[in-house]
Amino acid sequence: MTDIGLTSELTAPLPPSGQIPLIGFGTWQLRGDEARQAVSWALEAGYRHIDTATGYGNEQQVGAALADSGVPRDQVFVTTKLPPDHVGRERRTLRESLDNLGVDYLDLWLIHWPPNGTPGEDSWKVFVEAQGEGLVRNIGVSNYSLDQIDTLTNATGVTPAVNQIKWSPFLFDRSLLDASRKRGVVVEGYSPFRAAKLDHPELTQIAEKYGKTVPQVIMRWHVQRGIVVIPKSAQRERIESNIDIFDFELSADELNAVDHLTEA
Ligand SMILES: NC(=O)c1ccc[n+]([C@@H]2O[C@H](COP(=O)([O-])OP(=O)(O)OC[C@H]3O[C@@H](n4cnc5c(N)ncnc54)[C@H](OP(=O)(O)O)[C@@H]3O)[C@@H](O)[C@H]2O)c1
Repeated sequence: MTDIGLTSELTAPLPPSGQIPLIGFGTWQLRGDEARQAVSWALEAGYRHIDTATGYGNEQQVGAALADSGVPRDQVFVTTKLPPDHVGRERRTLRESLDNLGVDYLDLWLIHWPPNGTPGEDSWKVFVEAQGEGLVRNIGVSNYSLDQIDTLTNATGVTPAVNQIKWSPFLFDRSLLDASRKRGVVVEGYSPFRAAKLDHPELTQIAEKYGKTVPQVIMRWHVQRGIVVIPKSAQRERIESNIDIFDFELSADELNAVDHLTEA
């Protein structure tokens, strides 16, 4: 098992005082027993951060896998998300998420998408209250622009701790990363493989050099760049291999090359 722990250097600081493991396990499109099985394998393999959402319809299975794993609650970072069409029923949705997951707090609750394209200030106010009550340790957003994030900050004085956005070597955006960090917003990347070209020659070359796979190079690049990454797989071998990235290190030149990959 790979111990990625919650306190090693493999976390990003979450304002004001928390930590988020840089590697999480994504669960979109995992349903029913497949979801429970995959999350169980992920916990066995050493993942200590699970990403789900009300909209994924698998919170109960994620909760069952957590309960069966024997991993103490405070050793796993659990994220779920408010669907944009649940605006106005945030509290009920949160209660359902907690019940489904079988936990009494979330590590991270995200607004899944800007509701109707708006920043959703009213929802954000409920998020801030829920955090104040200890029901959620950290609060953030997903698929938000910086302007939308600034609107939430201006409305409440509380900046989202995380923005979960589509990210990969082919979507690397230094200015967005810097502007997010300047605001204290951790960038959490999703679809690291779906948003990449897994047979790209440069990635293949790097992977061959280290005797690793392209997905492992992509994972390693995220971690060395300090970007949270949450790959999904339904297959045990892939779940294990995607986290088996601690026996090699990309050079500064390789990191820079991966930053600037294009699909062409
Ligand atoms: N906030 C949002 O709006 C949002 C949107 C999308 C995703 N997400 C989150 O981010 C997570 C990850 O994103 P994602 O699920 O879109 O895509 P992803 O993790 O980039 O890719 C998943 C796909 O890659 C395959 N795969 C996994 N490991 C592989 C490997 N080693 N080699 C080759 N193929 C591999 C999987 O197939 P198998 O399952 O067959 O292995 C699956 O088809 C989601 O599960 C979800 O938690 C959030």
